[in-house]
Amino acid sequence: MCGIVGYTGQKQAYPILIDGLKKLEYRGYDSAGVALHSGDDVLVYKKQGKVAALETFAAAQPLTATTGIGHTRWATHGEPSDRNAHPHYSSSKHIALIHNGIIENYGQLKNELLSKGYAFNSDTDSEVLLNFIEDIKINNVCSLEEAVRIALKRVTGAYVILLIDKDLPDTIIAARKGSPLVIGVGKNEHFLGSDASPMLAYTKEVVYINDYELAIVRPDELILKNLGNERITPFVQKLDMELAAIEKGNFDHFMLKEIHEQPQTIQDSLRGRLNAEQGTITLSGLEKIQDKLREANRIVIVACGTSWHAGLIGEYLIEELCRLNVEVEYASEYRYRNPIVSPKDVILAISQSGETADTLVALENAKKQGATIFGIVNVVGSSIARLADAGAYTHAGPEIGVASTKAFTAQLAVLQLIALKLAEIRGTISNELFQTLLRELDDVPAKVEWVLENQVENIKAIARGYKDAANFLYLGRGYNFPIALEGALKLKEITYIHAEGYPAAEMKHGPIALVDESLPVVFVATKDVYHEKIVSNIQEINARKGKVVAVVSEGDDAINDMAEAVMVVPACHEIVAPLVAVIPLQLLAYYIGVERGLDVDKPRNLAKSVTVE
Ligand code: F6R
Repeated sequence: MCGIVGYTGQKQAYPILIDGLKKLEYRGYDSAGVALHSGDDVLVYKKQGKVAALETFAAAQPLTATTGIGHTRWATHGEPSDRNAHPHYSSSKHIALIHNGIIENYGQLKNELLSKGYAFNSDTDSEVLLNFIEDIKINNVCSLEEAVRIALKRVTGAYVILLIDKDLPDTIIAARKGSPLVIGVGKNEHFLGSDASPMLAYTKEVVYINDYELAIVRPDELILKNLGNERITPFVQKLDMELAAIEKGNFDHFMLKEIHEQPQTIQDSLRGRLNAEQGTITLSGLEKIQDKLREANRIVIVACGTSWHAGLIGEYLIEELCRLNVEVEYASEYRYRNPIVSPKDVILAISQSGETADTLVALENAKKQGATIFGIVNVVGSSIARLADAGAYTHAGPEIGVASTKAFTAQLAVLQLIALKLAEIRGTISNELFQTLLRELDDVPAKVEWVLENQVENIKAIARGYKDAANFLYLGRGYNFPIALEGALKLKEITYIHAEGYPAAEMKHGPIALVDESLPVVFVATKDVYHEKIVSNIQEINARKGKVVAVVSEGDDAINDMAEAVMVVPACHEIVAPLVAVIPLQLLAYYIGVERGLDVDKPRNLAKSVTVE
């Protein structure tokens, strides 16, 4: 949450910062701002709202500086407003700071500063941290770098901070703990960002900064130190990412682009791992912890949001194919519940960003108690990927749309591979079923392509018909129950329509009371072992005059006749069906959002990477 950028070099910093902020807007869009080191002054321009509002505001200002920092905010401490926008000035206005994260003991620090006579211009924890740093600098008569180091030893919480100081031309001081920071290395220039997207147009050489590291960045110099003031050699890596991957291309929104990328991204998740012709799966990460998995008491899946929905499908898959106990945990609950963790537990951590604070801390706790961590992560080099003992990247490419789509199907593809490989290792699957499922999985990208080629116009029309509904119910059974949850979550995020996902049979224990002629009920009803049962559930809704919309397998005429509208997907084995059945629900949420005139890439109150708890 919150995006940070920085530049120091020979070029004008402002356009680079603005372009970078636009690329990071998915991390928050409550306000945006920049601080520029201009001559011997630090200039701050900031504005509530999206980056475009900042651009309009700053247009008439002096913008020639070649060193600067920028921020796009997702509000935590203090409402979205101009005064709470970053960068913040220090009390003397000599230093400007931007911050991503939360300073947990800011109250205590603020009281100390108030008693010394400091006044504050915002309600943020970030301004407190800045004045705390400046106070140390003045009292200790030390450098900014030294003051930052001393201050951070007293701070609890998570942060990436970037600072520029009137007295330090061309210099950005940066530090991180618990929030991401990447530094791009150019020729006589350096770029800083919450991820690599702001620097991709300029360099592919990057350094991922670790927790408790401090960077002193100048055009021709990158000095990395730990908080004990010892120098660390920066580890420069080459980015394996193209600029096109973070641009919208011909699509109206990133979300639509990412939905349409799924035949390719699912293929990318399977590539080099699944060989349906030879009947093999190669997953080197899993093989690395084979012994642990053989001896494991159970698997615990830890995730949040959409990734948690993928985890639920993972539970069903691993239990059915591997005959192993699986528990699926919301990371935010798991980290505080004092769970029983043993060295015989294997934790599957699922995260698109690899930076979700709750997931990260839950894993750190479990790791301390001896559990083995396996990461299913999309962002290469992210904190969760680095914390894991082993893992399998999902290879979906950068996901910019705030609502997760292609990352979800990539997670499902990897979970399918894990369940199948583990079943093979544990000897719990017949060769016949193993081979059948390999072929089914191999066919998924083409089936997703079929949905995208044949259902978009139909789903647009359905979206027009239901765009004014006040509530939706999503129902599914078995592997399609988590898909119902995911469909409801997508609708809530993108359209602001209240929606609930439920197991279809559980509906009669309460939610059926909601059903009347105004309630659309979306059934995920592809052909599987529960088919007859879900047909009965559809009849129960029809009998109460609910409006049935259904995701059905091609040729399923029975449901066709019972539903007001159907979205068709190709027939597939029930175990791989979620990968295909979710596509119409992503499209439905997207087109209802568009019909309602909403900014689907930047839904209100949300941010892509939830780095606060
Ligand atoms: C929903 C969505 C969120 C994320 C959740 C976890 O569309 O994107 O629910 O799934 O915040 O994020 P990651 O997967 O990055 O840990």
